[in-house]
Order: sequence, then structure tokens, then C-alpha cells
Amino acid sequence: MKLTQDRIQKYENDGMLFIPNYLSKLEINSVNEAIFQLPDNTPGLVMEKDCQTIRALHGVHAHSKILQDLIRHPLLLEPARQILGDSVYLYQFKINMKAAFTGDLWPWHQDYAFWYEEDGMPEPRTISIGIFLDEVNQFNGPLYYILGSHKEGLIDFNTNGSREDAGWEANVSADLKYCLDNKTITRLVQKGSLTAPTGSAGSVFFFHGNIAHASVPNISPYPRRLLIITYNSINNIPRSDRKRPEFLVGKNYTPLEPIVKNNVLLQQI
Ligand code: SIN
Ligand code: MN
Repeated sequence: MKLTQDRIQKYENDGMLFIPNYLSKLEINSVNEAIFQLPDNTPGLVMEKDCQTIRALHGVHAHSKILQDLIRHPLLLEPARQILGDSVYLYQFKINMKAAFTGDLWPWHQDYAFWYEEDGMPEPRTISIGIFLDEVNQFNGPLYYILGSHKEGLIDFNTNGSREDAGWEANVSADLKYCLDNKTITRLVQKGSLTAPTGSAGSVFFFHGNIAHASVPNISPYPRRLLIITYNSINNIPRSDRKRPEFLVGKNYTPLEPIVKNNVLLQQI
């Protein structure tokens, strides 16, 4: 279940690796069913500005055996350990809904800016894995990445003044707290290249905490739900005096082990 050396090389060069049709349709159906059965009003629920559309769900794995098994799926966990060269624990689990017609944008940012500033994470020794829960196409707000931008390290970011005293929602809303400015994006795009992977549900991408990325609003009739799991190295634990809620920042540092036997997802392959 490990990645080939070519794929590892590509991830290291680009800061992102896209693999179409990585998880099976049956697995994605089970995950979608698990999401459908989640309780209403979990604490990590975030609404769009219209106050009517669900923007994201955070930490909802706590409510579902299937979602917990997904985190320990060998096709996800083995490459995470391989890329980081270490044991890992779950740092974040989120589902970005990008609803048809009303799903809003994600401005240009680096994820590590938030983890460094808000959580005191020492190094970007994380790997995030995005799983397409719907088909992602050119119309429904695919993620844009600037390939190679992770090599710049943490870039000076704008702290959105109006959000300085805001709570945790400012880290996940369309009005993000730490953003990259247009001059920086122009420079990065001249140096690297812009990509926006599209494909069927079950396609995945692995991405670095320092890669610059964004997505536009979804004005199409197609929902674009994306599940993102972030693993952190067990030797890169954030500072203990930072207190973002546990649905945003995992506090169980027990190294994860893949589940092969009794994994409700794997039994369906
Ligand atoms: C998106 O879902 O389009 C953006 C996700 C992210 O920045 O983490
Ligand atoms: Mn992000």
C-alpha cells in the first residue's frame, strides 16, 4: 500500500500528488452514507455567510466508526507514514461541502500558517490527504494549487485585520485570517505552475502544509464535497498552551496503526 518512488519524487517536487480513482466507489458510497447519518449540529459545524448553507464539518469522525476506519485505511495511512518517515497521529479531520450554487471561496493561503500561528506547531511535518466525495469538475470549484510553492517555506502572510480578535471560525471561513497577497501569488505562479485536479469521486491528492492553494465559489448545480485528513508526525506536537477546540486540532497523540482486518471499508473491496 506504499507509494512508488516515482510518486514520492513527484510529491517532493510539486508539494502535491494527485491520484485519480484511488478509493473504490463502494468505499466512497460508505463514507457518504456515514456522513448522511451524522447527528445535526455537531460542534465543528461551520455555515457559509448566508447562514443557511453548511460550509464545513470538523472533527465528525468522533461520531462514526466508518470515518474512524477511514483514518486508519492502509491506502491513506501507509503513504502518510512513508512520506513523513515517522509514526503519525490525526491532527485534523474535515469535510468541506462547497454546496451547489452557494458554496463559497477559499482565499489563497498556506495551511501551515494557521497551524504555526494558532497551534504553535513546530515544523510543517504534516501530510494532508484530500478525498473527492463527489466528482470534481471545472465548474464546481476545484482546488487550485501552485506547484513547487511548498519549497518557499512559510511565506509572509497578511493577517486580515478585521479577523484579529475573531475566534476559531476565522480559520475556516471564506474570510480567512491568514492569506497570501496578489503580489506573492503572481510571483509564485511565474515560478511554479498552477494546477486544478479534477476527477471522479474516490480520487485523492496528498499535499504539503506549505503549498499555496485556494478555490473559487461554486456557482454550478454540482456539489463539490471534499474530505481532508491531516496527519502530523508524533515528533511534531504543537505547543500545549494553545487551545483551539479538539474538533479542529487532534489531541490524541497515540500513533495510528493501519486497520486491515475488521476495517468496515476494506471489507468491501
Ligand atoms: C477547499 O475545500 O476548497 C479548500 C480546502 C482548504 O484550503 O483546506
Ligand atoms: Mn487549506
